[in-house]
Amino acid sequence: MSDFPRVIEKIDALRAFVSQTRTAGKTIGLVPTMGALHEGHLSLVRRSVEQTDVTIVTVFVNPTQFAPDEDLSAYPRTLDQDLDLLAQAGAAVAFVPSNEEMYPPNCSTTVSPCELSSALEGEFRPTHFGGVLTVVLKLFNICQADMAFFGSKDYQQSLVIQKMVEDLNVPIQIEVCPIVREPDGMAMSSRSVYLSAEEREIALSLKRTIDLAKDQIQQGQRDGFELITEMRQSLIDGGVTSIDYAVVADAKTLETLDPIQLPCVILVAAHVGSTRLIDNCVVE
Ligand code: PAJ
Repeated sequence: MSDFPRVIEKIDALRAFVSQTRTAGKTIGLVPTMGALHEGHLSLVRRSVEQTDVTIVTVFVNPTQFAPDEDLSAYPRTLDQDLDLLAQAGAAVAFVPSNEEMYPPNCSTTVSPCELSSALEGEFRPTHFGGVLTVVLKLFNICQADMAFFGSKDYQQSLVIQKMVEDLNVPIQIEVCPIVREPDGMAMSSRSVYLSAEEREIALSLKRTIDLAKDQIQQGQRDGFELITEMRQSLIDGGVTSIDYAVVADAKTLETLDPIQLPCVILVAAHVGSTRLIDNCVVE
């Protein structure tokens, strides 16, 4: 276990740290998070520690990516525990800015997301990716990292961020890391703390549905419409209250596929009680 990461709250202080680090010829890895850290986040931190000299983890519940009716105020905040976990994972700095630090009252420029962002998550959360890209670009500019690490749990987010980096010529290398799952298969999520024991069982139907779809594709199923119908039925049978989407899409363009072609990605977003969960799996 290393010492606690240095906790930095102000952009100026972080810039000074970054400047010293770069002058010393060290590389910087960045892991943006909203906190309530679990093994999924920590896998990104460990990867960054492996790949770069100094890892900065940002813990910021970004208000601009939540719609007014979403869970911004309820979003779990567990900073002391997060710092403990970051120490164990070897992060050098935890950047924990306030809302005012990231968005002073006169801050009004935003990033307009690419076409990839309009379907799926973008259909159900129309302002989400604008908020994500704006904060991620700000964090890239503040941290001047050589590499940044994201999870494929948020598959569409990782594509949209990579496209922003390409389109806006951001000098950073993006690495997308695999989904970390609970022993029973559920994709780890900060929002799983909202689930009751009964809802936790129901939540397993997302992974079960994805596995079913993956098996069928691997056995030669190419009828996208039929598979989507089966996926929706599987989620309903599992007790899911409402489904935002259950699709098979092109792994790069996210266009829904009928007939199915490989490589594709199976993506599911559904509500279990009042908790919204997402999961996915790429089939090569
Ligand atoms: P957050 O949901 O906290 O996730 C931070 C990073 O951890 C993201 O890259 C996400 O894909 C990754 N992650 C979450 N659960 C994971 C799992 N089970 N396995 C692997 N990686 C996982 O995503 C965000 O925050 C925000 O949108 C952010 C990018 C920080 C911008 O505010």
